[in-house]
Amino acid sequence: MSRIALIRTIMMVAIGVAIALAIGLVVRAITVDPKTGGGRDASVTGTSLVGGPFELTDQDGRRVSDQQFRGKLMLVYFGYTFCPDVCPTTLLDMSQAMDALGPAGDQVQPIFVTVDPERDTPEELKKFLANFHPRTLGLTGSPAEVQAAAKAYRVYYAKAKGAERDYLMDHTSIVYLMDRQGKYLTHFTSSIRGEQMAEAIKKFL
Ligand code: NI
Repeated sequence: MSRIALIRTIMMVAIGVAIALAIGLVVRAITVDPKTGGGRDASVTGTSLVGGPFELTDQDGRRVSDQQFRGKLMLVYFGYTFCPDVCPTTLLDMSQAMDALGPAGDQVQPIFVTVDPERDTPEELKKFLANFHPRTLGLTGSPAEVQAAAKAYRVYYAKAKGAERDYLMDHTSIVYLMDRQGKYLTHFTSSIRGEQMAEAIKKFL
């Protein structure tokens, strides 16, 4: 090999390596979702720790476990039926998201878990949920069952001051989207509207 041919070969290899590195960087930039930050970021912020098993009773008195929803996405919200504002608004947004998804929404199970099992009997849940998307599942249970479910989803709740039967509840107001294995995908705060929620859910279908 002549000297010039050798230099040319070395230059070609160097250019090849540079191109490969550049492609690698671009691919990485595309595959790492900036919103969720990918799996690594999720574990750092602790969001991958959201979710877990639950055993509760639905608005028709049937026992329900999280295992029943494997293969479907779960849209999970914790609240209570006596809530004067945030809970009904959020359930309305969830309902609008389900409507906006259309037939694709069959892959999504909307779930409302009460943080007020004392007042939210299956009958109360059924009355309340008549105002929202018909596939919404309302879940209640013993105080211990509700506490276990809320703990799994890192949901805080406590009785606020008020009359004995007319008290308010303080509670975390976040809608969680869980994947087909029941693992955390993303979440929505109360400020999101139904259409935006539907657009975000679509990316995971
Ligand atoms: Ni509320």
